[in-house]
Amino acid sequence: MKTYHAGPRIMVDITIRRFKTKDYPYIIKLWDRAGLSYRPEGRDSLKSIKAQIDNGKTIFLVAEADNAIVGCILGTHDGRKGWINRLAVDPEIRRRHIAYQLIKEMEKEFDKLGLEVIACLIEKNNTISKNIFEKLGYEYYPVDYYSKRKSPKS
Ligand SMILES: CC(C)(COP(=O)(O)OP(=O)(O)OC[C@H]1O[C@@H](n2cnc3c(N)ncnc32)[C@H](O)[C@@H]1OP(=O)(O)O)[C@@H](O)C(=O)NCCC(=O)NCCS
Repeated sequence: MKTYHAGPRIMVDITIRRFKTKDYPYIIKLWDRAGLSYRPEGRDSLKSIKAQIDNGKTIFLVAEADNAIVGCILGTHDGRKGWINRLAVDPEIRRRHIAYQLIKEMEKEFDKLGLEVIACLIEKNNTISKNIFEKLGYEYYPVDYYSKRKSPKS
């Protein structure tokens, strides 16, 4: 697996497939390059991701182009509602509808599970991400988010 180097801004063919353990270092690289905040010692450690996938409540998809991982999306669900998390696309290859395709693919996965609601938490200043979800028909809810963590790493 290598780092993708983009040419001119043309659409590229991607393959979307399930995450494999060997992808993990490339996913970390991708999240770093994308500037996404994640919890490497908490829910985003390899051990935790594998456990989440094994418990059947998590779907982790990666987008591959030219033998490089260029995007990913992590879906979790509770049997009724699906959550979209950790969506990222390599900065070298943005605005080619890779995020669109990843979200659409996750929606199909959630559909197969019969989920009735799909949701995504987006930071207030992440206008790009807000635009994508609005364009895809997601409705905005003016909520404030609270959480209680066992440790800052959780
Ligand atoms: C958000 C992110 C995943 C989008 O990836 P992407 O593959 O470039 O997005 P797409 O090409 O699918 O964009 C779909 C639409 O979103 C809008 N959009 C995407 N990037 C945009 C930008 N930089 N400026 C304005 N609109 C933008 C456009 O309407 C675009 O469609 P168009 O190109 O036909 O106009 C990517 O920017 C990223 O990884 N950001 C950092 C991590 C992050 O914020 N993740 C989301 C957390 S909720």
